[in-house]
Amino acid sequence: MPKQSTAASASSRPGDVLSRDYRLSHVAQGCGAKYIQTFQSGYYAALWEKVERPLVEEIFRSLGGPDRSCLDFACGTGRITSVAARFFGTVVGVDVSEPMLACAAPRDNVRLLLMDITKEPLRDSFDVVSAFRFFLNAEDSLRRQALLAIHEHLVEGGRIVCNIHANASSPAGVASRYLNSVLRRTKYNTISLDQMKELLVDAGFLVEKVIPYGFLPRPGRFAPGLCEALVAPAETVSRALRIPSRFAENFVVVATKPAALPNRLESARFK
Ligand SMILES: C[S@@+](CC[C@H](N)C(=O)[O-])C[C@H]1O[C@@H](n2cnc3c(N)ncnc32)[C@H](O)[C@@H]1O
Repeated sequence: MPKQSTAASASSRPGDVLSRDYRLSHVAQGCGAKYIQTFQSGYYAALWEKVERPLVEEIFRSLGGPDRSCLDFACGTGRITSVAARFFGTVVGVDVSEPMLACAAPRDNVRLLLMDITKEPLRDSFDVVSAFRFFLNAEDSLRRQALLAIHEHLVEGGRIVCNIHANASSPAGVASRYLNSVLRRTKYNTISLDQMKELLVDAGFLVEKVIPYGFLPRPGRFAPGLCEALVAPAETVSRALRIPSRFAENFVVVATKPAALPNRLESARFK
C-alpha cells in the first residue's frame, strides 16, 4: 500500500497529491473555483471533453432511466453529477467540502448534500453510485470506509462506477513511482488495476467491466496546446492498434453489489 506524505492543500494540483486526511483535502476557500479551472483548458480539459465525458455518458446511458437513481459520492463541483442528471430520474450528490459544493450548478432532479456518508448514512438506496477522482488520493482506511458505505447505499444488483486517474502501470504512473523511489516518499500516488480490483472485492463487489482510457501520457505543464490537440487522436489510434490497457493512464471500473443469497441457500452453502 502507498506510503502517505504531505496533506493536499488548495495550492496543490487538485487530485494529484496524496493526503493524510483526504476528507480535508478540498475544504480551503477557493478550492471549487480552482478545481473547475483544471477542466477548462489543457490536457485535463481535453481528456474530459473528448474522452472521459463521452465514456461516462455511454456508461450512464446503459445503466440509467427515468425510474432509476444515482448517488454521486464525493461529487465535488458536480462534474459527474451533472452528467448523471441527464440519464437518471433522481440524482443525489454528497461531498464533505462546502467550497466544492458551492461551485456546483445542480439541475432540478439533483439534490446536493454536505455530508459524509461514511459516518452518517442516508436513508435511501440507489441503483448506481459513481465515485470519480476519489480513490486515488484517499488514504487506504478512507478508501475502504467509502467502499463499504457505497455498498450499503446500493440496491442488490446495483453498480458502482468509479475511476482511477493515475494507473500505476501507465508511462506516467511508472515515472511517478520512479520519482517517488528517488525522493523516498510518495509525491504522486498511483493505483494499479489489480489494487483497485482487490479493494472492490474486499468490500463485497463483483468486478464486471474495466474500461481503460487516456492513452496519451500526461506531460505535466509541457505544451498544453499540443496535448489538447493530441488527446483524441491518441485515443483513436491506441484503440485501433489495440494498445494494452496497462498503458492507459486512467481506467473506469464498473462493479456489482451481488444479490444476497436467500437464507435457505446461505445456510446450505456453509454445510
Ligand atoms: C478530486 S475531487 C473529485 C470531485 C468529483 N468527483 C470529480 O470527479 O470532479 C475529490 C472530492 O472528494 C471529496 N471527499 C473527500 N472525502 C470525502 C468523504 N468522506 N465523503 C464525501 N466526499 C469526500 C472532497 O471534498 C473532494 O470534493
